[in-house]
Amino acid sequence: MIEFRDIEKRYDDSEPAVSGLNLRIPDGRITVFVGPSGCGKTTSLRMINRMVDPTSGTIEVDGRDVSRVPPHELRRSMGYVMQQGGLLPHRTVADNVATVPRLLGAGKAEARGRAAGLLERVGLDPALAGRYPAQLSGGQQQRVGVARALAADPPILLMDEPFSAVDPVVRSELQRELLRLQDELSKTIVFVTHDIDEAVLLGDQVAVFGAGGVLHQFSPPAELLSAPANDFVARFVGRDRGFRALSFQPASRIALRPTSAYDAAALASAPRFASDGSLRAALDAVLASPDGVAVATGPGGHDVGTADATDVMAALAAVRGEDGAGRVGPVPAPDGDPGSDGDPGSDGDPGSAAAEASVGGPAGRRAPGGGVADGVA
Ligand SMILES: Nc1ncnc2c1ncn2[C@@H]1O[C@H](COP(=O)(O)OP(=O)(O)OP(=O)(O)O)[C@@H](O)[C@H]1O
Ligand SMILES: [Mg+2]
Repeated sequence: MIEFRDIEKRYDDSEPAVSGLNLRIPDGRITVFVGPSGCGKTTSLRMINRMVDPTSGTIEVDGRDVSRVPPHELRRSMGYVMQQGGLLPHRTVADNVATVPRLLGAGKAEARGRAAGLLERVGLDPALAGRYPAQLSGGQQQRVGVARALAADPPILLMDEPFSAVDPVVRSELQRELLRLQDELSKTIVFVTHDIDEAVLLGDQVAVFGAGGVLHQFSPPAELLSAPANDFVARFVGRDRGFRALSFQPASRIALRPTSAYDAAALASAPRFASDGSLRAALDAVLASPDGVAVATGPGGHDVGTADATDVMAALAAVRGEDGAGRVGPVPAPDGDPGSDGDPGSDGDPGSAAAEASVGGPAGRRAPGGGVADGVA
């Protein structure tokens, strides 16, 4: 565990870069620091491996005060990935990665072997190993950066906006690769970004920072979307947080209609969504369909049924119903059945906080059914 205790950092006499920071970062999970520019994310990250020392307060890693650990020793247990790869320009890709095992005492052949294994692990073509960093695309360079950070097999990985310099498609690939790697490796990852979508996609826990390095909320992403701690977080998370929160709800809850209900030729070109994916992907497919009907596919990729917008909303209502408390029920008709799950005590503002508070649910980052919560398309 990495623990920040009453951390303050002032670079000079002006505003503190970080203030009053108390935070416990759990082992084996991805913790994301997110917030606008200049709010102290990089400073906070760098205090973990002592690239920056705090003005006051302590940081402990597994119960050890890092200020008492020599920086070189500390950094052996922490890989660091920076925004632009940070690769050595005059060394080949293989040598960039092999440098770390060499420093740790591995022989040349062993270090090379290890580098080759790591490059494969991060999804790089072995043919690129002999190239220099400038001969790689931005996305490839970032993969090398991740391979290098993993080279000493450190339990902790610090990543500072590692994917922000690449285009959205490559970025999305790198994000998925990171989640795949993390499934295998279970590192303690601290990941900095200013992109809330990236934070919600990758984080098991998300820390939202604001001006002056103040921590506003530290929650699982679903909770961040369903219950922002204050106006700052609500604004930062954005207006479409209700839609984003659908990433954490399973499409498996949709009562699919048989494909035989529609003309086969019309369905052939309809958008698809994975039946074990998220409601967000399902709704997106429905919205993208000219006919308002999308086709669900099973694990083997075959069609298993269809859904339209009402089916998606019915699934969402079912999930909300299970979530229970604090829901806004319909006003009962004078002579009608008030409904079994209407909450008579709920006289608040309908459709706002109370209704949305039930969106998040207990689901974690990974959508049920083995799928992964969706990011930006
Ligand atoms: N070496 C430094 N000397 C003086 N001030 C600094 C130094 N590094 C950072 N700062 C200041 O500390 C504050 C926090 O900076 P930091 O780099 O931690 O922010 P950030 O959240 O990572 O921002 P960004 O999203 O732009 O990377 C900023 O006001 C910045 O100007
Ligand atoms: Mg930064």
